[in-house]
Amino acid sequence: MKLMPEQIQQFEREGYLFFPSLFSREEIAVLNAEVPRLYAQQRPENVREKGSDAVRTNFAAHMYSYPFAKLARHPRMVRPVMQIYGDELYMHQFKINGKMAFDGDVWQWHQDYGTWKNDDLMPEPRAMNVAIFLNDVNEFNGPLMFIPGSHQLGVIDAQHDTSTTSYPLWTINHDTIRKLVERGGMVAPKGPAGSMILFHSCLVHASTSNLSPWNRVAVYLSLCAVSNHIRRFKRPEYIAHRDFAPLRCLPDDCLLKNYEVPLPWKDGTPADALEGVVAA
Ligand code: SIN
Ligand code: MN
Repeated sequence: MKLMPEQIQQFEREGYLFFPSLFSREEIAVLNAEVPRLYAQQRPENVREKGSDAVRTNFAAHMYSYPFAKLARHPRMVRPVMQIYGDELYMHQFKINGKMAFDGDVWQWHQDYGTWKNDDLMPEPRAMNVAIFLNDVNEFNGPLMFIPGSHQLGVIDAQHDTSTTSYPLWTINHDTIRKLVERGGMVAPKGPAGSMILFHSCLVHASTSNLSPWNRVAVYLSLCAVSNHIRRFKRPEYIAHRDFAPLRCLPDDCLLKNYEVPLPWKDGTPADALEGVVAA
């Protein structure tokens, strides 16, 4: 999949691109069949919602789940980012966010690069989020909301919020959000399972809780240019990866056919990947 010049211009202007129904129902079914097994596991990579057993985020499934290891190398997700950066990519972060029916909690307003810079010392915002919907996303089940054009402002002042949800995040205050929305408005791309969103790591985004009876599971690949790799390993490796080897794409039919992929954590996460490394 190659981006057209108009799409690249749109990305530069808005900070995101939306591709409705890019993956087929059959491809998405392969991924959905694996999610309950992953979410049922008692492992640190499953971060549960505050006060509930529902999984908020599962980290690093590409290291121990066959279908997701293939997805991590899918050309429809990886190649457009290679094209934009003109560089090879490694996986900085891989997550399957639950936003489960009734239980899925909010994601406060934030920029991902704020966290990657503050916590991981990633030099530049040359890492991209690529998300695919595993369920249909509508106005009721907590769609991702963006402030178009907000990526152009670079890193915006943020506070470390460790209490609102079960997952700590560098969040942007409401006054700033009000001004940003006056300037850029808000959008919430919605569409069938299999839709993909590519968005800049400085794009300001959030999502509300899911009070609907429909799950809103989505997979996020955070793909970083190899030359822009993180410089500090403060967070556990399953949250911020330390293997900067370039990703090799599989063929386009990889979700429906068998291909060999490494699954280094299939028998458990190595002890040194469970903790951050504090500089001496
Ligand atoms: C995120 O910002 O990382 C996740 C937001 C969401 O899944 O709604
Ligand atoms: Mn985010």
